[in-house]
Amino acid sequence: MTETYWKQTWRELVEGFSAEPAQGENSLLARWGKKVKSAGYTEHRRKRDRDDPLMRFVIDRVGPEDTILDVGAAIGRWSIPMAKKARSVTALDALPGMLDLLRENARDEGIDNIQTIQGDWSTAEPGIHDYVLASHSAYTSPDIVGYARKIERHARKACYIVLRVPMHDGVVGELSDRIHGNWHDSPNFTVGYNALLEAGITGHVVMEEPVRHWSDTSLDDALLRAKRHLRLSVDDHDEAIMETLQRRLVRRGDEYRWPDGMQSALIWWRPAN
Ligand SMILES: C[S@@+](CC[C@H](N)C(=O)[O-])C[C@H]1O[C@@H](n2cnc3c(N)ncnc32)[C@H](O)[C@@H]1O
Repeated sequence: MTETYWKQTWRELVEGFSAEPAQGENSLLARWGKKVKSAGYTEHRRKRDRDDPLMRFVIDRVGPEDTILDVGAAIGRWSIPMAKKARSVTALDALPGMLDLLRENARDEGIDNIQTIQGDWSTAEPGIHDYVLASHSAYTSPDIVGYARKIERHARKACYIVLRVPMHDGVVGELSDRIHGNWHDSPNFTVGYNALLEAGITGHVVMEEPVRHWSDTSLDDALLRAKRHLRLSVDDHDEAIMETLQRRLVRRGDEYRWPDGMQSALIWWRPAN
């Protein structure tokens, strides 16, 4: 059977987004690992301490007897606050280094009800839990529907997937269209949610707001950011990108503000069992 449009688009974006090998030094997972390790606990705390309405939505529904599976838990941004409310949390991540940091963070907070499992979601068998949450961990999975169905098979009460939302008027979208011939530069909420709808998963959506817009202190920094998102190497398309940045970014004091930014959406649904 041919894949539906959005499911195929998601697969193509994952394959393009992580054109590097799935394993090894330069893989997407390894680069994440390095980034988080270098940002360390301070960054984790900063992110954790900001009010996150999506996290509030999930945690408000957790009771003291509930068990939660956190897919792609990294250093515990979700696992740690969830463990404070739940009976237990199973934190799964492909990268052992992430789980080392998670255990350290949990110890620092006196939390002893998190079990860690190192493994890839495509093959892991962590058992059934009341809730399964997967926040920003779907981007390495080419089959978004298979990824969601597996979440469903492991959840008794509800399934949660968090994905980033692309800005409809974003500069990265404009540049990606111009350079790669596809407005979507990477797997995201728009593509993932539509792929799930096509597969009959009619999830509810909680949208985070407001958007946290990116800003850079110079156009050169903005150029580097754009190239990182577009996965371009040195000197690739610099002129076209600079022209677009000059036209689209807004000068505010000593910063250049992007129309693009960070916004996430939570998709949630009840498993059919
Ligand atoms: C961007 S981080 C998100 C961390 C955390 N969930 C959050 O929202 O702050 C993605 C994490 O998911 C993990 N990950 C990505 N794909 C995975 C997979 N297929 N199986 C297990 N872990 C995965 C990565 O190793 C990384 O630690």
